[in-house]
Amino acid sequence: MNRYVITGGKTISGEIACQGAKNSVLPIIAAATMCDSPCTLKNCPEIRDVAATLAILRHLGCEAEFEGGTLKIGCELSSAEIPDALMREMRSSIILLGALLSKHRRANISFPGGCELGPRPIDLHIASFRKMGVKIEERHGSLICDAEKLHGAYVHLDFPSVGATENIMLLAARAKGRTVVENAAKEPEIEDLQGFLNACGARVSGAGTSVIVIDGVAELHGAEYAIMPDRIVAATYLAAAAITGGTLTVTGVEPSHLGSIVSIFERSGCELVIGEDRIALSREGAIRPVGTVRTMPYPGFPTDALAPVMAYLSLAKGSSVFFETIFQNRYKHAAELMRMGAAIKVQGSVAVVEGVRRLSGAKVMATDLRGGAALVIAALAAEGESEVTGIELIKRGYEKFDSNLRALGAQIEEHR
Ligand code: UD1
Repeated sequence: MNRYVITGGKTISGEIACQGAKNSVLPIIAAATMCDSPCTLKNCPEIRDVAATLAILRHLGCEAEFEGGTLKIGCELSSAEIPDALMREMRSSIILLGALLSKHRRANISFPGGCELGPRPIDLHIASFRKMGVKIEERHGSLICDAEKLHGAYVHLDFPSVGATENIMLLAARAKGRTVVENAAKEPEIEDLQGFLNACGARVSGAGTSVIVIDGVAELHGAEYAIMPDRIVAATYLAAAAITGGTLTVTGVEPSHLGSIVSIFERSGCELVIGEDRIALSREGAIRPVGTVRTMPYPGFPTDALAPVMAYLSLAKGSSVFFETIFQNRYKHAAELMRMGAAIKVQGSVAVVEGVRRLSGAKVMATDLRGGAALVIAALAAEGESEVTGIELIKRGYEKFDSNLRALGAQIEEHR
């Protein structure tokens, strides 16, 4: 079983360039398949979720070539059916539904199941699609969709779902007429999707606010586009430096995307220097507890940064309280952190983390992508050796995690 073997106690210091954003590249790849000529995406992260998406594209007959962070995507699809095995590989492949229907007007995909964060329903996606004239039948675990009568519509989301907002944008981009999404998600990745769609000739405005307006166009042409930096990966490296008392600069980031995260590091005693495209962090004194951390839709504190920040605060001089408001089951990593000596009490959506003086190396297992990264962060500061298994989950979203950390001073090896 592949695992990371980490000897803790080394500081994480130096400079690292931030990779492209996982949550931006996936919808943008979906959008590229809607164009009438090929697209070139730059700054694409080499992560397993991109590989899984490309496997689906190839299954659909779409050509894709990925080298050195540049992804070339063709525009010819020979099928609009995504089988169960490929859908299960990555729940977020639901994002391909809007793209397939927008251009090809039909699709047949297997129903995306739950995932490691608990049930992840797609009712908001389906209800919005139906409002836009898509006929959807649920049969034997599959969604059979017909968008021959696709049209723009006024859609109000009961919750600002990131995936539903993106899926509606894709579907609406080539629909007849205007679509207005109210209570849309405001995440920066949605602005990135708008940027790409408009570069291809779409007419989308309002991304980054809670009302997005899409005027459908008949054609989209290919474009070259650079994926935005990954704010969660940036937060993860900052947490690694913070927990080990290092001095780290993360470059190639958009600091305004990390406001709520920077605030937590500052409150806990780190020094931060914010540049135009970089964030420098250092910590010398004790880690101070921060009171309450509540996950919220953007610009609130992101649910994806909860686990790495929790690992960091497990060594604070006092207690911190986490409230997870977006997903169920986001605390699976807490039990693993406790194997390393962390003191965490979880009840429902609340976790109380009482800071301990030291963590000690242990054998732990990644239970999800960000939870896995949190275990690596804890292991960097723990006394002695840790083994983290389940690292395929970490590779879903982190490019060269072990070699990047090694270059910053960590003692981490992948054992096969
Ligand atoms: C995206 C991100 C994920 C991040 C999350 C919240 C990608 C690939 N993933 O996931 O990393 O943690 O945003 O920032 O971009 N919901 C429904 N019905 C729906 C859709 C969602 O009830 O039809 C609920 C979900 O169960 C969850 C909440 O809404 O409780 C938020 O989900 P959503 O914003 O859709 O997250 P994802 O797009 O799945």
